[in-house]
Amino acid sequence: MSVTLQETEHPLLADIETTDQIGITRYSRFLMDQLEPRPFAGERVIDFGSGSGVMGVQAARQGAKDITFLETNPDGLALTARNARKLIPHHTTWVMGSAIDPLHPEIDGQFDSMISNPSSLPTLGAGKDEEAFYDGGQDGTAMIEAMIGLGRRALKPGGELHFLLTSLVDYQTILRRLGGEFRAIQVRAVTQFEFRPHYFEHLPHWRNLRDEKRTFFFSDGDKNVELVFYVVATQP
Ligand SMILES: C[S@@+](CC[C@H](N)C(=O)[O-])C[C@H]1O[C@@H](n2cnc3c(N)ncnc32)[C@H](O)[C@@H]1O
Repeated sequence: MSVTLQETEHPLLADIETTDQIGITRYSRFLMDQLEPRPFAGERVIDFGSGSGVMGVQAARQGAKDITFLETNPDGLALTARNARKLIPHHTTWVMGSAIDPLHPEIDGQFDSMISNPSSLPTLGAGKDEEAFYDGGQDGTAMIEAMIGLGRRALKPGGELHFLLTSLVDYQTILRRLGGEFRAIQVRAVTQFEFRPHYFEHLPHWRNLRDEKRTFFFSDGDKNVELVFYVVATQP
C-alpha cells in the first residue's frame, strides 16, 4: 500500500497573480500552511518583502483589517499593488517601496503582527533576476537583520513576528539574538526541502559556511537538503 500526502490547496493560489520572477514558492506555501489556522481578526499587519503580496492578502482574508506591504523590488511592488487592489479591495492597504524609515515615525509600536518569508539564501551576489527574489547577501542575513529591526520597532507589546528561517543561514546565532531581544521565541514547525538545481552554483560557498559550522544542510544520496523553520517571536 502506498500513501500519498495531499498538499493543502489554498483558494488564494487560484486567485493571486504571479510573474516568472515573482512566484509562490515551496517556502511561501509552507508559511501559508502554518498561518492558515491563525485568526488575524481586526489586526494591523506588516507583510515584509511582499513579492506577490500573498502573505498580506492571506492575513486579510483571515480577518486582518489593515495591511502594510513592504517590497524593494519595483516589479514586486507593482504586483503586490495589483493583487491587493483586486483581492482585498475593501481593506485598508499601504504599499511601500522599502523598509519603513524615519520618514514614518508613526509606525512605532503600531502593529499586531508582522509576516515575512525573507530572501535569505547566502549567495555571492545575485546576478540573475529570478535570484534577486531569494538573495540574502554573502551570509544570507541582510534581510533577516532588517526584519528583526523592523519587528522590534513596529510591533505592539505582545505583537508577533511570524517568519521562515532556513538552516542555510547561521540560524543558531539568529535564534540566540532573537532570544535576547524578544519575550518569547517558538520554533513551531520544521520542514525540509531538497535544493533545486539552480542553487547548485552556490554549493561550494555553502559547503565552506557549513565547514565553519555557521550553517547546516545534509546530503542524502545525491540530494542536498536544507531545513526550514517556522518561527514566531513575541514582542516584550
Ligand atoms: C523570498 S521573497 C518572498 C515573497 C512573498 N512574501 C512570498 O512569500 O511569496 C522575498 C521578497 O523580499 C523582497 N525584499 C528583499 N529585501 C527587502 C527589504 N529590505 N525590504 C523589503 N523587501 C525586501 C524581495 O524583493 C522579495 O520579493
